Amino acid sequence: MATRGTILLTGGAGFIGSHVAVEVAAAGWQPVILDSFCTSERSVVSRVGELVGAPVRCIEADIRDAPSMRAAFGSTPIHAVIHLAGLKAVGESVEKPALYHDNNVRGTEVLLAAMDEFGVRRMVFSSSCTVYGTPQRLPIDESHPLGAINPYGQTKLDIERMLDVWADAGPDRHVCSLRYFNPVGAHASARIGESPIGIPNNLMPFVVKVARGELPELGVFGGDWPTHDGTGVRDYIHVVDLARGHVAALERLDSMHHERINLGTGSGCSVLDVVRAFERVNGVKVPHGIRPRRPGDAAAAYADASLAWRRLGWRASLGLDDMVRDAWAFASRPS
Ligand code: NAD
Ligand code: UFG
Repeated sequence: MATRGTILLTGGAGFIGSHVAVEVAAAGWQPVILDSFCTSERSVVSRVGELVGAPVRCIEADIRDAPSMRAAFGSTPIHAVIHLAGLKAVGESVEKPALYHDNNVRGTEVLLAAMDEFGVRRMVFSSSCTVYGTPQRLPIDESHPLGAINPYGQTKLDIERMLDVWADAGPDRHVCSLRYFNPVGAHASARIGESPIGIPNNLMPFVVKVARGELPELGVFGGDWPTHDGTGVRDYIHVVDLARGHVAALERLDSMHHERINLGTGSGCSVLDVVRAFERVNGVKVPHGIRPRRPGDAAAAYADASLAWRRLGWRASLGLDDMVRDAWAFASRPS
């Protein structure tokens, strides 16, 4: 299998991490998944192994547990860490801000301490466009003002700042914070994808549940936004494109100190664009109706994705039709 060195993926059993593990292996690295399985399933690891063509090592551990982290780093030399482990539900973060700080921010501190102890100096971090707060101009480039509008967003800002300090501790430290826009879709094999627990908050998993008949109707949050059709506009990016962006960052990490780079397509789609594409491509109905605006939402958010092209030589190649097709194929997979 891989021979270029080992990449530790914290949160590697999650929606994004599982796709990153596949692409990391395809690029010739050896992925090792470290996950507590607090929001994912153990079976993901064997499914990633199937896609990679060889079993993938998995360490069951919580990043906040220092002895486990030391044991993980002590067990094999690690070239770089891709740090995806984190809690991400905005509403839950409002109800449990201390949990979000503890898991995401303190967890990262413990992880960095273990990396220091074992001389691991490279990290790619899962940040989010949530660090830009309410968009003040479009498209959103990396110099857009920062601001958290919920405790989850605050954890991403805190971690990016912590990584500045960590990177400043020596010239041999290399960090890339990837600010994701809206990841959706699934692997073309339909073996891995997004499986949110309970009623989804995010658009694509909600659309999927409505199309399956598990929920009666999609509520479209606002029909009077100043957008082309009155519904909210976002920069949806296929999770496989997103995963490839991590490999591109990994390849160029040694030329970075701490860089922040948007991963988006650079174009926005409205809620109705997504619903119509889903219905057309998949031949299913998605009953929907306009509801009041969701508090805290913005009319539109989409990336200036040009820095990723300049610094990483990466750009998204999959479109909305690919995203809705693959999301549906994963949801319709035989169990
Ligand atoms: P996910 O919930 O599917 O995956 C997160 C993984 O991290 C899960 O497998 C979970 O078990 C693990 N995890 C959480 N806390 C842990 C801990 N303390 N120790 C060990 N493992 C732990 O979510 P995802 O969508 O794959 O998100 C991955 C990362 O990307 C997160 O950091 C998230 O904040 C970030 N992100 C996600 C989105 C998105 O829309 N999905 C957007 C921007 C940023
Ligand atoms: N929407 C609906 N109905 C729904 C769900 C969503 O109309 O049932 C609309 C929203 O109003 C918005 C769009 O669909 O216009 C996308 O909403 P999502 O909740 O899928 O995504 P957001 O851009 O609002 O936020 C998500 C995460 C944030 C993260 C951000 C960028 O929830 O934490 O993506 O990664 F910061």
